[in-house]
Amino acid sequence: MNPLAGKSILLGITGGIAAYKVPELIRTLKRKDARVKVVMTENAKRFVSPLVISTLSDGLIPSLWEGSITHISLAEEASLLCIVPADYNIIGKAASGIADDLLSTVISAFDGEILFFPSMNYRMYNNPILQKNIDLLRDSGGTVIEPDTGELAYEGTGKGRLPAASRIVLEIEKALTPDLLKGSYCLITGGGTHEKIDPVRYITNRSSGRMAYSLAKCCYMANGKPELIMGITSSKDDENLPYNLIRVENAREMQEEILKRWDRVDYLFMSAAVSDFTCTSSAKKIKKKEKSDLKLKKNLDILLNLKNKKKEQFVVGFALESDNLLSYAKKKMKEKEVDLMVANDISSIGSDFTSGFLIFPGGEEPFKCRKDELSWKILKRISSKKS
Ligand code: CTP
Repeated sequence: MNPLAGKSILLGITGGIAAYKVPELIRTLKRKDARVKVVMTENAKRFVSPLVISTLSDGLIPSLWEGSITHISLAEEASLLCIVPADYNIIGKAASGIADDLLSTVISAFDGEILFFPSMNYRMYNNPILQKNIDLLRDSGGTVIEPDTGELAYEGTGKGRLPAASRIVLEIEKALTPDLLKGSYCLITGGGTHEKIDPVRYITNRSSGRMAYSLAKCCYMANGKPELIMGITSSKDDENLPYNLIRVENAREMQEEILKRWDRVDYLFMSAAVSDFTCTSSAKKIKKKEKSDLKLKKNLDILLNLKNKKKEQFVVGFALESDNLLSYAKKKMKEKEVDLMVANDISSIGSDFTSGFLIFPGGEEPFKCRKDELSWKILKRISSKKS
C-alpha cells in the first residue's frame, strides 16, 4: 500500500533557511506518485529559488492577486496541507487567525489535516509565545511535528532543525493512512541473534532485519506505537525515525527485553530469526589446534516460553521453511500458540521480496510480494480481527 499514490499535497514553504531542503522533499513525494502543488511566502523565495520549485513540482501557485486559482479552490482540491518549514511568522498567523497572503488564506480555508514542521533558530523556537501558539494550533486540530535537535545555521546546535526528508514523508504518509492500530503498542523483533563461540566467533544466520523495519514503519503510519528489538542485521534502517530501537546480541538478551515490556504489549511481531543453537562460549579465542568440533546445544525458544498471555494480546509468529511450508508452519502455530502465523519460503531471507502464506484460525492466504506490502497485509488482517 502506498498512501501517497494519487494524493494531492499542497505544500506551503515559508521563510526559514531549511527551505533549501524542500526540493528534495518534493522529489521524494513525486517518486511516491503524489501530486505536489506549492505556495511560497515572499520570504521563502529568498531562501529557495521559485524556478527550482516550479520545475520540480506540479505547480507553484502565484500570489493571491495574480492568476485564476483561488485560495478556496486550492483548499478544496488538496488531501493534505503541509507547511515545510513553518517559520515563527506563519505559526503566529495560523494560531491567531491572520490571513493576509496566499498561504495564510489557504490555511484559513482548509478544513482537512494541516501538518506544521517548525524550523528556526533555537532561541526563536524556545520563545514562550511560539510555544503557546503551537499549543493553540494543536488544540484546534493541527499537527505540529517537533523539530530535531542538531546543527543549526547560525549558532552551533540546538532544537529547531528541520527533520530529514524521510521523516517528513513518514509523517505525511501517516496522516494519509487509516487509523488501523488506534494507538496500540507494537513490539517488533527482527534480525538474527548472535550466539558467542569465543570473543571473535559466533553462530548466526542470514536474516537482514528488513521485515521488522518495514513492519515498524507500517505500524507507525497506521497510528500504532512501535518499538523495535533488533539482533544483528545486514540491512540498515533510517536513523531519523520517531521510534525506539533496542539492539541485542543473543536470544537471552532478546528474551529479557521482550519480558520487560510484555505486560503492556498489544501486538507482538516475532520476525526475528532467533538462533536455534548455542554452545558454551570461551572467554579466550579458541586456537585452531585446540579444537576442531563444537558442541552445540539447543537455544531457548522465546515464543514457546512466553507466559501469561492476556486474551487481548495478539502474537504474530514467522515461520521460515525450506520444505513442507504449510504443514510445518501450522504445527509451529499450534505449539507456540500464536494468533497469526506468517509462513515464509526460505528464499525470503535476506531479500526485499517474500512469498508464502498468512495462516489464521480457519484459513490461509497466499502472498508473493515485497516485504512492505506483506506488512500491510498483516496489519489489515490483525486490525480486522481485533475490531
Ligand atoms: N523463535 C523463537 N525462539 C527461537 C526460535 C524461533 O522465539 N529459539 C520464533 C521466531 O521468532 C518465529 C517463530 O519462533 O516467530 C518460528 O521460528 P522458526 O525459526 O521458523 O522456527 P523454529 O521454532 O526455530 O523451528 P525450526 O528450526 O525447527 O524450523
